[in-house]
Amino acid sequence: MLTLGIESSCDETAAAVLKEGNRLLSNVVASQSKIHHHFGGVVPELASREHIRTICYVVEKALYKAKTDFEYIDEIAVTKGPGLMGALLVGLTYAKSLAFSLKIPFVGVNHLEGHIASVLLEHPSAEFPALSLVISGGHTSLYHMKSPTQLEMIAQTLDDAAGEALDKLGKLMGLGYPGGPVIDRLAPFGNSHAVRFSLPKISSGKLAFSFSGLKSAAVRYVAKQKITPLKKGTKVDPENLSQDFLDLLSSYQKSVVDQVIDRLDKGLKGNNIRSIQISGGVSCNSELRKRTRKHFENLGIHVYYPSPQLTTDNAAMIAVAGHLRLKSGEKDSWDLKADSNLPLHGIYASKNKSYLPT
Ligand code: KG4
Ligand code: ZN
Repeated sequence: MLTLGIESSCDETAAAVLKEGNRLLSNVVASQSKIHHHFGGVVPELASREHIRTICYVVEKALYKAKTDFEYIDEIAVTKGPGLMGALLVGLTYAKSLAFSLKIPFVGVNHLEGHIASVLLEHPSAEFPALSLVISGGHTSLYHMKSPTQLEMIAQTLDDAAGEALDKLGKLMGLGYPGGPVIDRLAPFGNSHAVRFSLPKISSGKLAFSFSGLKSAAVRYVAKQKITPLKKGTKVDPENLSQDFLDLLSSYQKSVVDQVIDRLDKGLKGNNIRSIQISGGVSCNSELRKRTRKHFENLGIHVYYPSPQLTTDNAAMIAVAGHLRLKSGEKDSWDLKADSNLPLHGIYASKNKSYLPT
């Protein structure tokens, strides 16, 4: 049983081949970050065009790396949302056309469900009930998972996503796009206690994330301290940056991690949580990994992350989540539409006895 996964919701064109729902044979990702780097963020129109340009090549490469060919693919899983509409349409249209010509079933997958599945692919014995945090450039959402098939959202961001907050600081300081990995690399050269950013309090009392206040505080700090952004063309290297600059990056990243730990702590209350599962691009962050592991493992709660190549957008996670849906008897029809705001809530893959890859 071979599943072809396809992902094109934002700025990565990706394809993967999965065997029997749990063995990854290939995982190809063509990143567009070089294209969007100069703009300090993803330009939707450029993203769609690049997906069109690369999708055939990316899928063929995934098949080649898996030592297989189109005729041996049994089913297709593709991201149907949320994401950029034009970008989603490229992957979805490709997947439908391929499924039609090969006469095989296909299913549309929620991108967030894919991120959650990326943890379960590598850690099939993770304990439940669990807290599952999807933390990326587009999302910061916390789910309570009673079991691998039952999921309820308990918090989301009221404004910016955590990755967006890191990317916005990156843009402000001339570090290019995406800022997250650059800040991760530079933060150890600064003092994370140098700038005090306060933890946002949510007036409604409901559990939620908020990162836009942090960005505004950083903008004010940069103006007050007269920190000059990196000049275009200068190498992004600690030696080319002032101590003030590095302290700001380090303190800002610490503040993002502080908020994540605070919200996870609150999410634990009264829920008998046995593990924490963290996925999405920002879950690659070294400070986040180090501090969450230390904090929660001291409380006896295991923290699971996907391996780095499965944290940022990829199609392996879409193949895993889609295979489980197809296995449970679900499949989509040719009129399936992309949904740029597709929510993820309630019980999913509910017909499956287990969500775990078998
Ligand atoms: O999951 P992803 O590829 O796309 C979305 O679904 O949004 O996540 C991309 C985000 C970007 O905001 C990027 O800055 C962030 O993940 N990111 C990181 C790191 N690697 C990627 N943020 C912090 N530290 C990293 N090492
Ligand atoms: Zn993502």
